[in-house]
Amino acid sequence: MHYSEFPDAPASGTPLCADRDIRTQGVFVAAIGAFPYLVVQTPQGPRAYVNLCPHRFLPLDHRTEGILGADGALLCSNHDGKFDATSGAGIKGPALGCRLIPVPLRPEGENWVVA
Ligand code: FES
Repeated sequence: MHYSEFPDAPASGTPLCADRDIRTQGVFVAAIGAFPYLVVQTPQGPRAYVNLCPHRFLPLDHRTEGILGADGALLCSNHDGKFDATSGAGIKGPALGCRLIPVPLRPEGENWVVA
């Protein structure tokens, strides 16, 4: 499924977060209307994903806000799935064989916006 197929999917140019949000927190979680998303800092730069775990389509932070592992991976609070933050690929537990749905990003001034 492509991010643009979700209700309230943001158009190109829509701000998703300020650069300082992910530089200080590592991950930024929010929603635009009914569209849940997250932006995470990675060694290759920020990545954005729809904040729905493909295992059961629940938000990664449904049970706890702590979804950024010490190793920089994204953790799903529902069933301990684990995702590579750079690629979105599932790397542990029920996340294996799954992939987070990416949202294209580009910098614009002090913000990261939908590309
Ligand atoms: S909903 Fe994410 S691992 Fe089950």
